[in-house]
Order: sequence, then structure tokens, then C-alpha cells
Amino acid sequence: MPKEDHLTVIENAILAALQKSGSLDSQQLCKDLVAQHPTEFEKLRRKYEDNVADHQVLYQVLLSLESQEIISLSNQSKQMYQLSPEGELYAKEGSPEHKCGELVPAFLQLPPKEELDPKTKKPLSQVHFFQRYINEQLPHQYSQPLPGDIAKIGNLAFGKAKQSGYLKVENQCVKPGDLSTDKTKDTLIQFSQDPSKFPEKEIKFLKQRNLVSLVTVKWFEIKKGEKYIPDMSKAKQRVVDLTEDMVKSGEWKNIDFAPLNFNASAGPISSGHEHPLTKIRYDFRQVFLQMGFEEMDTSKWIESSFWNFDSLFQGQQHPCRDMHDTFFIKVPQYAHELEDTAYYNRVKEIHEKGGFGSIGLRYDFDDKFTQQNILRTHTTAVSSRYLKMIADEYKKTGELRPRKFFSIDRVYRNETLDATHLAEFSQLEGFVLGKNLSLADLMSYIYGFFSRIGMEEIEFKPAYNPYTEPSMEIFAYHPGLKRWIEVGNSGIFRPEMIMPMGFPEGWNVVAWGCSLERPTMIEYGINEIRSLEGPNVSLQLIKNVPIARLTF
Ligand code: PHE
Repeated sequence: MPKEDHLTVIENAILAALQKSGSLDSQQLCKDLVAQHPTEFEKLRRKYEDNVADHQVLYQVLLSLESQEIISLSNQSKQMYQLSPEGELYAKEGSPEHKCGELVPAFLQLPPKEELDPKTKKPLSQVHFFQRYINEQLPHQYSQPLPGDIAKIGNLAFGKAKQSGYLKVENQCVKPGDLSTDKTKDTLIQFSQDPSKFPEKEIKFLKQRNLVSLVTVKWFEIKKGEKYIPDMSKAKQRVVDLTEDMVKSGEWKNIDFAPLNFNASAGPISSGHEHPLTKIRYDFRQVFLQMGFEEMDTSKWIESSFWNFDSLFQGQQHPCRDMHDTFFIKVPQYAHELEDTAYYNRVKEIHEKGGFGSIGLRYDFDDKFTQQNILRTHTTAVSSRYLKMIADEYKKTGELRPRKFFSIDRVYRNETLDATHLAEFSQLEGFVLGKNLSLADLMSYIYGFFSRIGMEEIEFKPAYNPYTEPSMEIFAYHPGLKRWIEVGNSGIFRPEMIMPMGFPEGWNVVAWGCSLERPTMIEYGINEIRSLEGPNVSLQLIKNVPIARLTF
């Protein structure tokens, strides 16, 4: 394989520099290489992730040369002073004391002000107003925010400006001074050019003003290795990989292999990542299973309107059965007729006329409309199918026992997409079938479930659902967000829903449901649902979500 040209250019530059001076400081070398061969260095950098430091890029090249014994490396470190961010700003844009001097002419143009000192009741001096003016104007003299307290910087700057003669104060009045040099800026520039040669005494002053700070700098001392060559074109390319052919032919005996370098750092490992929704679904499933719930088979995403709406006593004129809220399937447009015609007729009758103590919804039930296939709008369609199956079993065997079921799966709504709404999302749902279950039973199941997923404080709010009575919205206090958030919906299934199925008097069902996306977004601090699901999903986000969560 031909060697990449940009790598050879960098390697040759290193060897040439070494030839000249015999020993190199890798940090200095790094700066020189970036300056002298910017395009080649940039190409080298592309192999790494975005935020790898230049020195790290160079390190890999040095390691490869070291492994060929062309150079030798030894670790070095020392403590030294470096410009602080504040120091760097002043070195580039000028010191605040010099800026104070520069502000004098503009200040003197301003109309004179009069104000009494609130303590002494005497008029405030012009110097006082100038100090205020400095504090206002100084931040605007720099391209970046000033690090630290403006009042403090302003005060210090004013004092230094007087000392250095950038302005004069005579009879409590400010006058222009000599601005021909900015001593602090010059000192900082001089320091940054070669910090090691800078006199200790002056460093003390810079340190007092926080313009420099002490850091530990690490670098390599680079020397010629045993097999040093001045130019890579003369390098004998050593073989790195042992192949099957080399072993078979016996050629390996004569090959000069490069030694293995165990100090080389490996590249980033790319691997599969579990989607946050999958993680949360796993956790929630575990909770349901711990609480003794059986899982429903929710694998059929296409549902007939009958199971999604009519069996739940949701009238055919209900607004959510509209094209704007529900996705209708074109092919096949209609589901098979229900085999259990007796049950079908009871559902039809309860809509049209009522029964089991209910006055019904009182309209003409449309047989074709109920057969329309749709993408299910909630997993309650599946709960309804399961309840009917349990009732059928009871009819066959005469036996009925309390049962608990759950599901977590996908549902579809014809919604306008925005940051928190998608046309497809996941729902979790649990129901408990039992004798004379009360609202207190429902609340206790909800407490049990939500406390296990980390939401300990729960409140309820009365709500409306076509298929539950009473119905309650569930709110949880989120300790991280420090506010109450709506987490789900719940209720006791109406007799109009479960009695036509054939349950005996006294039996009823409590149920609750919520979306999976909402708790996932809260838990992982994700604001945009479209980065979690759909065509704009952010792979980076999925890669970066924490493996373990310690708090809800
Ligand atoms: N199906 C309801 C929804 O889509 C949730 C729910 C389930 C409400 C069970 C009450 C009982 O929001």
C-alpha cells in the first residue's frame, strides 16, 4: 500500500528538525509543524475525533517512528507559568488601564453631571463620575466578556492608569495622559513569546493580577534513534502484519517485522448502542413483571375500528374517529365480520339503545364503519381483545379469577408533528380484572407502579375517557424538574364496555396507560422527540446517552 504523502511530509519535517538540533521538544515541534505544514497536519488530524489536541495527533506519528527505532522518546514534565484567559485577552486587545486612558477624551465630551453623595450630602466629584463611566464602558472595549468582577477590574485599572500616566487627576478632575505605550500589554506579549526566559520578579506581579497561572506541561524529548535516517525515503519499510501466506511459505523467517508497540493508544471503538426508549421499555417491563402482570401480545398494529373504538363504548361520531386524528387503512379497507355475532349485537345494542343499566349513546350504529381497518390509536384496543378472551374462557369453563395484564407497544395518531408530538409513539398500559375493584384499588396499583419507576409523589385529577368512569389523569412530582408533570391517564372500565363481553355482576377492571416517550425524554433530558424517533433521529444522541441512570 502506498504510504500517505501527508504523513511522509510530516515525518520528514521531524527528521530534518532533528538533524539540525539533535534534540527536540515535542510541544515546540508541534507548534512548528502546524505552522509550517498546515494542510498536511490537517489531513493527519482527520483520522481522529474532533477535539483531539494537536500534540496528541503528533504523538501517534512519533510513536510510529519510535517503534521503527528511527527516533527515541523520553517523557518530560515541568511546572511553568502560562497566560491566563484574562492575560491572553489583554495581550491581544490591550490592558484595561490603557483603555481607561483612552476613555478620557470621550468622557470629557459628556455634559457635566451633578449629584449629591447620599452619605456626606456634598456634590460628587468628576473623578467619581469617571469611575462609574469606566465600569460601564470597559466591557464594551473588548471582543469577549471580561473574566471577573467588572467593578474590581475597573477600580484596579483606574489606579494603574494614574500610576502609569495614561491619565492625570488634578483637583478632583480627570485629564488626558500619555498613551504612547501600553506597558502591561507589552509585558504580556514579551512573556508569551518565551515564558521560560521571563524574569521571576515580574512574573510575581502578573500572578498577583491573575494574568498568569502555574500549569504542569508535559512533553517528549525527541532524540535520534538507533536506526535514525534523515529522510523517510531511505526507510526500510518494515512489515507489520503476519499473514497466513507468510506462515505457509515459510517466508516469515526472513521478514524484518516491526516490533509491537504496546504503548500506542487505540482508536475509538465503535459499537452498537441501546436506544433510550428500549432501555426505558426494558425497565418498565421489569416493573410490570415484578408486580405479577402478564404481558399481552400487541404485535398487530392494524386494528379494526370495532376493537379500537366500538368495543370500548366510544361512539361512532366521536371526534377522534375522524381522518384528522386516525390513520385509516386503504388496503384491506375492511376487517372480517366478527365471528361472535351475539357479542357484536350486544355492543351494537348498547351503543344504540343501552343496557345493563345504561341508556346507551342512542344513534344508528353503522356496521360498515365499525369494520374499517385503522392503525391502532391506543393499546387499549388490545386490552379490550384480551378482556373478551377472558370472558369467553369464563363462558366455556365457568371459572373466573382475578387477572393482571400489561403491554408496551406502538400506537399511531394523525397528529401535526412538533417537538413533543409524533404520528407514532409507544404506550404502556396495565389493567387489573377483579371483583368489586374500587378507585382506591386503582390508585394503589398506580402508586405501586410509578413508585417503582422512581416517581414517588403522585396526584390525581378528574378527567374524561369514553371507556372509563370515573377517569383520572395521573400527575407525578419530578424532583429533577421540581414541578408536577402529567404522566398518564386511568380509570375504571365502564360496564357498557365489559358487561357485553359476558362478565358476571360484581366483576370490573381498573386500568391506566401512559406514553413511553414522555418519561424517556424527561429521564434523559431530551427536549425534541424527533431526535429520539423518526427520520431525524440523532445517532450521536443515542451513542451518548448514559449506560446507567442513578436517579429518576
Ligand atoms: N387509552 C388511553 C390513552 O390513549 C390510556 C388509558 C388506558 C386510559 C387505560 C384509561 C385506561 O391515553
